[in-house]
Amino acid sequence: MKQGIILDLDGVICDTAEFHYKAWKRLAAEYDLLLTHEHNEQLKGVSRADSLKLILDWAGRVLNPEQFNRDLDRKNGWYLELVESMNSKDLLPGVRDFFERAVRYNIPLALGSASKNARLVLSKVGLVDAFKGIVDASTVTNGKPHPETFLKAAELLNVASENCIVFEDSLSGIQAAKAANMYTVGVGIPQDLPLADEYVSNLGNYDFQTYLN
Ligand code: BG6
Ligand code: MG
Repeated sequence: MKQGIILDLDGVICDTAEFHYKAWKRLAAEYDLLLTHEHNEQLKGVSRADSLKLILDWAGRVLNPEQFNRDLDRKNGWYLELVESMNSKDLLPGVRDFFERAVRYNIPLALGSASKNARLVLSKVGLVDAFKGIVDASTVTNGKPHPETFLKAAELLNVASENCIVFEDSLSGIQAAKAANMYTVGVGIPQDLPLADEYVSNLGNYDFQTYLN
């Protein structure tokens, strides 16, 4: 019997995965790189600095540390411009219903995000208080695909790893959850997330009966 649920944020709770993609695409264009869907699948769940390292690698560019930090800040500035206008209407389909059902079934929820902006985004959509525990980029030393994010989230829930379900839209996140010995629900399609245990197109499609059995 599963006892706790851990949710990724970007691309699972709200459409901020698309905002990250837009901002990275804009920066990549400056390096003469056309960032594609395939590139973006590899960036999902990856920290800001590691994402820029991958992009520079694909573009065959090298930046000195000062330029590197400047471009990280510029990308984040563009991302925050998009986040700025978010509000409680910007939840992905089915998310509100999912949270209501979790409360009804008394299932504790934790957040496991790779983003430094996670608390800001949660406050924009009005969900900060919906979680028993929040793990974000400021609380971990090792990002996804390392299991630390999800192990810390399970600790905050006070639930054993093997009794947690993780909802993720990223390859690195699914790998991290597997490494933490957790059951995984891929939010997306098998082609993008080949390792997940099961799939939903959005949280509203998740059947809590499976969970309760
Ligand atoms: C993850 C996103 O949730 O957070 C990545 O999937 C993003 O695309 C990463 O790079 C870090 O986010 P931020 O907000 O700290 O730049
Ligand atoms: Mg995500």
